Amino acid sequence: MLTVLQAVLLPLLRLYLCGIRVLIYQMFNKSFTLPVLPKQNGRVAIVTGGTRGMGYETARHLARLGMRVIIAGNEREEGKAAARTIQAECREGKAEFMFLDLTSQKSVRHFAETFKSRGLPLHVLVNNAGTMLVPERQTEDGFEFHFALNYLGHFLLTNLLLDVLKRSGRAGCCSRIVNMSSATHYAGVIHMDDLNRRACYSSHGAYAQSKLALVLFTYYLQEQMTASGSSVIVNAVDPGMVDTALYDNLWSLARALKKPFAKILFRTPAEGAAITVYAAAASEMEGVGSCYLYNGQKRQSASASYDTELQADLWKKSCQLTGLHKA
Ligand SMILES: NC(=O)c1ccc[n+]([C@@H]2O[C@H](COP(=O)([O-])OP(=O)(O)OC[C@H]3O[C@@H](n4cnc5c(N)ncnc54)[C@H](OP(=O)(O)O)[C@@H]3O)[C@@H](O)[C@H]2O)c1
Repeated sequence: MLTVLQAVLLPLLRLYLCGIRVLIYQMFNKSFTLPVLPKQNGRVAIVTGGTRGMGYETARHLARLGMRVIIAGNEREEGKAAARTIQAECREGKAEFMFLDLTSQKSVRHFAETFKSRGLPLHVLVNNAGTMLVPERQTEDGFEFHFALNYLGHFLLTNLLLDVLKRSGRAGCCSRIVNMSSATHYAGVIHMDDLNRRACYSSHGAYAQSKLALVLFTYYLQEQMTASGSSVIVNAVDPGMVDTALYDNLWSLARALKKPFAKILFRTPAEGAAITVYAAAASEMEGVGSCYLYNGQKRQSASASYDTELQADLWKKSCQLTGLHKA
């Protein structure tokens, strides 16, 4: 009984507490305003989950700055429509859609191969796609859904594209990787022996774990990039609480309660996306990696995220689970 309470109720309470703290902050603080950003003509970006929500707003903003943006998503028609809309309003940038299902390692590998076969450079990779509070479910590769989509798919994608990112960056003009985390990572615990949460499933715990994993991954990858002298920077961002379809899986009571709050206290998708665009394009961020960015500033992430042993263990385990031999 105690185990069930610990495994299910505690993550839920911790997640909602994180949410309340963010809402209180948002009640008293204005959304961060982007500084003037340099033009990005000639640069290429991939935005996962760029079909809707914050991913769409990120893709749109980067295209407006002159980038060639590839929206990577798993809804073909919606993805193509999103790219067309962005393309129609951008004079300098370009937007296009490429299929990517992050819950399938086969799809991730196929996406990376197809992208590489085009011979394009890659200056910005935004690992934005995500899902939240999905009932217990496994991917075709047998992984828990949040862990696979939010974290492991992005881990694999990033590693497969790393050589292009390294080649495309240079000193003074680094390639940039932006990992979309969340304040919920503060409630996260990495269950190294049960990453798929089979012992006692909690959708709240699984979401928080995936977002903490992204921060651990950010810091560890930056260490590697620095050690190898690569011109690639890696940062994690936290957009605050943003009114998007991400909350569609909330229990009906929580969804009903959320509605009036969302109108007043939540950020809009464009406001939420500002921190991602900042990490991807701001001059202030040139050469600056290993940050957890929130509301335009560097913040302390959860103490567990700085645990270098945990970072290394998660990296090693992720390599095993994805068949990468870089541990
Ligand atoms: N909203 C918030 O308050 C909040 C707070 C902190 C962090 N975040 C994070 O922000 C990110 C964006 O979320 P959002 O709020 O903008 O929610 P959203 O509107 O639901 O967007 C989620 C995106 O993920 C994509 N996606 C879902 N499953 C996918 C798959 N299997 N393969 C590839 N792409 C997939 C969706 O694309 P399709 O339409 O193609 O499925 C969609 O574009 C997520 O990582 C989320 O965890 C959100």
